Amino acid sequence: MTTDLRSFVLGLPKAELHLHLEGTLEPELMFDLAERNHVALPYESVEKARLAYEFSDLQSFLDLYYAGCSVLVSEQDFYDLTWAYLVRAAEENIRHVEPFFDPQTHTERGVHFGTVVTGIMRALEDGTERFGITSRLIMSFLRDLSPASAAQTLEHARRYGRRIVGVGLDSAELGHPPEDFEEVFHAARDAGYRVVAHAGEEGPPEYILGALDVLGAERIDHGVRCLEDQMLTARLAMDRVPLTVCPLSNVRLKVVPAMAEHPLRRMMDAGLLVTVNSDDPAYFGGYLVENYVAAAEALGLSLKDLADLAEASFRASFLDEPTRLARSREVREYADAHGVR
Ligand code: ADE
Ligand code: ZN
Repeated sequence: MTTDLRSFVLGLPKAELHLHLEGTLEPELMFDLAERNHVALPYESVEKARLAYEFSDLQSFLDLYYAGCSVLVSEQDFYDLTWAYLVRAAEENIRHVEPFFDPQTHTERGVHFGTVVTGIMRALEDGTERFGITSRLIMSFLRDLSPASAAQTLEHARRYGRRIVGVGLDSAELGHPPEDFEEVFHAARDAGYRVVAHAGEEGPPEYILGALDVLGAERIDHGVRCLEDQMLTARLAMDRVPLTVCPLSNVRLKVVPAMAEHPLRRMMDAGLLVTVNSDDPAYFGGYLVENYVAAAEALGLSLKDLADLAEASFRASFLDEPTRLARSREVREYADAHGVR
């Protein structure tokens, strides 16, 4: 059964909508880039790095995630990082991706905004040409830095036109409510950027409300704590607001105690438009397929549930309507061909 489940998920056409490119930095590449750029790492070996990936909460992960980013310096480094993810995505039949990157993590270290975007974009364009993987790049503001720093980052982004399609909000959530970023998100919306935000990962349901009503978020990243507020859950379901859920991440960061207690199934039962994603796969022990499989095994999801989740991933994307419909049809055809309906 396990093999059947995995091979079904592997072949399923999928979109990934919650993926931090910096969170795809595998220890092997981290060591290669450290050598290339003469950067010292706090780990003796690849194996020791992996062993250090034990987290007690979001902040304990972020400390290692930002430290790992120190090896990313040149345009080619950002290209290599993005390309490694795309190779993996192609193997997992990911047809579309809307990755995040955290420009401030790099500009704060003196790396130019353009170096980061150009490296990432060149790889995304090559990914479309080589694998047919479409993409929409989203720039995330770090909510534990100042709103002024976010505003300056938005100014940088404007020079790169439509290559960046959206803005998001990530990093340490508790104590950094969406309301702090009202002005910069207003400016981003005015400039035509799509808007998403991390909310309700460690933060309370009120942060999800703030993301919707103050920032104008069209999609909520994580959002798992919405179930604590019935009115909010009903509203999210009624308005078909997509929630990009990351099961392995939630277990590894102790947002939930165990996969068997993950709210994904309850969220689906509540009529929410949920999608499955990998967040920071190099740190959380699994890419997209592993997230589908781990959730399915622990929560008893059927193949039909998995096909519904894959279809939702396209519906929740920023692809144009005809492409979204075409991709959804591919999911249905795949499910039909496997006797799943
Ligand atoms: N940055 C990278 N991964 C994140 C997560 N899971 N939550 C908030 N910020 C992040
Ligand atoms: Zn995230």
